[in-house]
Amino acid sequence: MNTDRREFLRETCKLCASIVGISLVASSLEGCAPLNYYSTTLSNGELKVPISSFVPDSNMVIIKDKSLEYQVAVVKQKDNTFKAFELKCTHQDNSLIATKSSFVCGLHGSTFDLSGKVITTPASKNLKEFPVTLSNDLITVKYN
Ligand code: FES
Repeated sequence: MNTDRREFLRETCKLCASIVGISLVASSLEGCAPLNYYSTTLSNGELKVPISSFVPDSNMVIIKDKSLEYQVAVVKQKDNTFKAFELKCTHQDNSLIATKSSFVCGLHGSTFDLSGKVITTPASKNLKEFPVTLSNDLITVKYN
């Protein structure tokens, strides 16, 4: 093998590695995109979230309340209704990580879609869903 061919192969491999690396970083950044959090306090068994807490291009608000064992995600559905889920894995109760497109369990890899349904096992049950009402631009989650 002459030097020119070796150099060509080396440069081609570098280019391929760069393309693969950029693709991996781009796909992982979607999952790391900043999420929208809203601090509130559980009162009379309810969590209240103003619709204005949903920023443009975001379909989810994560409720922060120190009294809750697990965070609660309020998700705007495709039909413009809202659903609220406890971010607790139904496999072995690990806290879930919210991304823009799913809820992920870091313990054994279960994933759930934004309607609370299991996508990836070992979890077999969908996420716990709380009743939600909407009135005067205020979302009320019945936490039970
Ligand atoms: S605790 Fe979540 S997959 Fe096992």
